[in-house]
Amino acid sequence: MNPDPQIIILDAGGQYCHLEARKVRDLGVYAEVRASETPAAELTGARGLIISGGPASVYDPASPTVDPGIFATGIPVLGICYGQQLMAHLLGGEVCPGEKGEYGFATLELESTSDPLFSGLAGRQQIWMSHRDVVGAVPEGFSVVGRTSTCAVAAIAAPARKLYGVQFHPEVVHTIHGLELLSNFVFHVCGCQKDWDPRHRVPLIEREIRECAGNRNVFFFVSGGVDSSVAFALSTRALGPDRVRGVYVDTGLMREGETDYVRRFPGITVEHSEEQFLEALAGVTDPEQKRHIIGEQFVAVQERVIESRRLVDEHWILGQGTIYPDTIESGGTAKAAVIKTHHNRVAGIQKLIECGRIVEPLKSFYKDEVREIGRELGLPSELLDRHPFPGPGLAIRCLCSEFDAPVRETAEGWVIPVNSVGVQGDSRSYAPVLAIDALDHARATELVNRITGVNRVVALVESRLPLPGMQVRACSLTPERIALLRRADAIVRRLSHEAGYDRCVWQFPVILIPLGGTGSPDSVVLRPVDSVDGMTAQSVPMDEPLLKKICSELLLLPEIAAVFYDLTHKPPGTIEWE
Ligand code: XMP
Repeated sequence: MNPDPQIIILDAGGQYCHLEARKVRDLGVYAEVRASETPAAELTGARGLIISGGPASVYDPASPTVDPGIFATGIPVLGICYGQQLMAHLLGGEVCPGEKGEYGFATLELESTSDPLFSGLAGRQQIWMSHRDVVGAVPEGFSVVGRTSTCAVAAIAAPARKLYGVQFHPEVVHTIHGLELLSNFVFHVCGCQKDWDPRHRVPLIEREIRECAGNRNVFFFVSGGVDSSVAFALSTRALGPDRVRGVYVDTGLMREGETDYVRRFPGITVEHSEEQFLEALAGVTDPEQKRHIIGEQFVAVQERVIESRRLVDEHWILGQGTIYPDTIESGGTAKAAVIKTHHNRVAGIQKLIECGRIVEPLKSFYKDEVREIGRELGLPSELLDRHPFPGPGLAIRCLCSEFDAPVRETAEGWVIPVNSVGVQGDSRSYAPVLAIDALDHARATELVNRITGVNRVVALVESRLPLPGMQVRACSLTPERIALLRRADAIVRRLSHEAGYDRCVWQFPVILIPLGGTGSPDSVVLRPVDSVDGMTAQSVPMDEPLLKKICSELLLLPEIAAVFYDLTHKPPGTIEWE
């Protein structure tokens, strides 16, 4: 049994709401997420409350709110981002609508570190922002205790009432001392005692699998990646090997050598479905449509396998290696906005979920926790340390376009008219890309925050054609383009492995965009990122010799016109481009 939560996170719709609960649990204190509107009377057992961030503005008619009674209970409250704005708004302060917002790194200047919330913290530190509106005037009894160069009210406090607010996100890893701030809140302000050990997880997950399966067996889609392998291993432990089947679907969208890699796993069979997936995707250009089609094809394969192997339908449920970010980005919690529909959250799968026919043992966990669980289970690090690879495979790294369109020159660089997905302030943005001529991360961050209508900045590294003459052409996914991307990806993977670079980055997508000219219709974008949980990520640099080597091998492929380097952090650009 889980203990009663000492800290309750009130969900105002933010992407990071669940992460806040996880970070508090990492501190050894049990925390749970509840609806933001939960009445104050139902929260009195908690020692502290956190109001999460969220994409809304307090001025939106249906924006999430909290019971104002919580501020009179004497329970300490920390408002994060929208949570700070909501607290200020409800207590008589003023919130000012922002025009463009602020996403990414900032430097926090603290007025004083004598308050328990800030004890032990330096006066200046790196924080991570993701917001549009800001607090303009604090409520009576509050003072401004932190600011940045662009945000005058970055932290507020009313210590006598134990009410605090921060505009930045202490729960993300890129706020360097964020965990210390949360620890101060949990232990120094709220006075919590440790009551949670992450090692409680495995037996609890196994019990959940047994409860969910009942007397049914589990049919698992495995991909050779970390999540599905750990979920498969957990289910096998919980139910025994005779009750769990693993099927790897070759969608035709996998990386070079992947199917052969998976064949080595015991208990897994390979289902060839290359033509089925590629035919269903023919002519499709819209990223969300691509994701939906791929998810539905997985459901169709499942039905086919169950039928062809004469497995009795009602005796089987589907197992998936879904992890928390897949759910949250698909808009899978009460108030979260859809950023992109992950393949394991399409309509066919939702139907199975509603009928209680899906088991997803890892759906509350983040990638780093999944790796840790895998280690507890004794799985090999060769598997656990593999870079994440998305279920829809190369399809979401092979960008398509509905129209022909030229590259457009602007004062800041060239606008490349391919749309990529971004995440700005908890909601999806779908915007063209700006190309600049220097590998300058600081400039890229400044540009993406300043220029409206752009969510990503890339640097042109090497090109066989002049960029101003290039154009984006109308095209969809073809077997030839997938094969080209597979070759480019294999080159980048080999060279970065030989240089040991793959061990320095968390993930390294290689993207194909339909930008080029005669004889060389496509270009490649390199997207190496550092992350811990995939929720936020930092674009990372690469040594020049390796970059040169990668570019010259890629440009040996005649179809490739240019090589770009993605300089965008997450937010505002998601790790994948679609
Ligand atoms: P984004 O692009 O949202 O990615 O910043 C965060 C992490 O999730 C992976 N990803 C997916 N994984 N199915 C998956 O199994 C999907 O549809 C999907 N989309 C993104 C991505 O590779 C990164 O590790």
